[in-house]
Amino acid sequence: MTTDTSHYGGLRFMRLGMLALAAGMLFGVIGGFQFLFPEFLQELLFTKTRPLHVSLVISSIFLLAIGGIYFYLPRQCRLPLFSVKAVNLHYWGFVVTGLTIIGCYLSGRFGGREYFEFPPVLSIPIFLTWILFGVNYFCTARQDKEPWPVYYWMWGTGIVFFFITYAESHLWLIPYFRENMVREIIVQWKSYGALTGSWNMLAYGTALYLATRISGCEKYSRSRLAFSLYFLGLFNLMFGWAHHTYFVPSEPWIRTFAYFVSMTELFIFGKIIWDWRASLEDWQKNRHCNAYRFLMAADVWVFVNLGLALVISVPAFNLFTHGTHITVAHAMGTTIGINIMILLASVFYVIREELPNEIHARCSSQLRTGFWLANISLAVFFVALILAGIGKGVYDGTSFQEMMTGIRPFLFAFTLSGVTMMIGFWVILWHGFRLMGQILAPVRVAEPEPA
Ligand code: HEM
Repeated sequence: MTTDTSHYGGLRFMRLGMLALAAGMLFGVIGGFQFLFPEFLQELLFTKTRPLHVSLVISSIFLLAIGGIYFYLPRQCRLPLFSVKAVNLHYWGFVVTGLTIIGCYLSGRFGGREYFEFPPVLSIPIFLTWILFGVNYFCTARQDKEPWPVYYWMWGTGIVFFFITYAESHLWLIPYFRENMVREIIVQWKSYGALTGSWNMLAYGTALYLATRISGCEKYSRSRLAFSLYFLGLFNLMFGWAHHTYFVPSEPWIRTFAYFVSMTELFIFGKIIWDWRASLEDWQKNRHCNAYRFLMAADVWVFVNLGLALVISVPAFNLFTHGTHITVAHAMGTTIGINIMILLASVFYVIREELPNEIHARCSSQLRTGFWLANISLAVFFVALILAGIGKGVYDGTSFQEMMTGIRPFLFAFTLSGVTMMIGFWVILWHGFRLMGQILAPVRVAEPEPA
């Protein structure tokens, strides 16, 4: 049993992330039913369920990624955390701010902009705790005297850029931006595009870290391909936001360029994981099989999303798909298929590393069932959203009601597959949460004899 508990803070973040994801999906499902039956749970209007859903699932991405970083640095990279106290402060800051935001949504107290619809004063603790995280990260990582592997750069960049882009997304508080609608929208959506890039950096960094650890070969994290992905990702983070402002006047070349950059990034990321997969020995695959399975799923979803992104990046199609369910398919396809899959790989990698085989092997068949249920449902969910989007895009009548009736079968399939996807993820999250709790439990089950 280990006496060093400096990495425990990371596990607490991960567990909170799993709770946020489980609750967030429930609000997504309620929102799906509200599409079908607008009077469903009317006291919890869609104006509340949507921000509750989006805030919870996006915060789960941050929590799982942050937790992984806090865990891997001291435990596996053998870099003592600069401040363990700051991790606790960050955690409790997140909990209190998060609960206050949920309370604001439930009581109908809005005040921010889309995606951050809580009163903007609540962004102050978010900024402060992020600074704590950033200082802790850089002061810890700089103890590593070796040249940094690519994932250190990715995590560091994600941290810095989240701070910049989150600050940018608050520029509307200044009258100069707020008083001109085009200016406000451009700045708002530009910052959101780059913000997505910042959490992608945290998640992709985690994927490359896991790939390196699972294969036991550092060469991927120092390869030219991995660093080209990093620079492309950085470039994408800074310039790939243009499609978010498609409907406001801007130079067409900026959009074309930005799309090209984001496609290349996805492609290279897929290639790295693909190459890594081909090089794994069978025993390595089995040893980490849950983590491996989630990374493999992320890889497949990279290619599926790349296909959709390529189509909606064509300006003529973009005009037709913008604001339809196709945009939602793109948003959910990437966050669930890529970010969540990578971060679940991280959860099960930690479990494999920290608990004896015997313990997690007990639930492996349930985990497999949850995995397939979630992924097959996600495929149906994704296609149903695209078909609903096409239905909306091609409708040339004037009656909203008529259009909604036309796409109702697809919305029905979307909601139903949303329910089964949630069940699949709940099974996975339940075991992840429970097993991680065992790592945190003060008394460990005795290690079994090695086979
Ligand atoms: C598994 C984790 C999930 C993640 C990470 C996720 C992520 C997201 C994101 C990022 C959005 C905003 C999309 C946009 O603005 O274009 C969204 C919206 C939405 N999600 Fe999810 N989602 C998840 C699961 C679900 C599930 C299981 C359902 C169930 C049906 C669902 C239903 C919805 C609905 C109804 C919306 C609002 C769409 C709209 O406003 O048109 N989500 N989700």
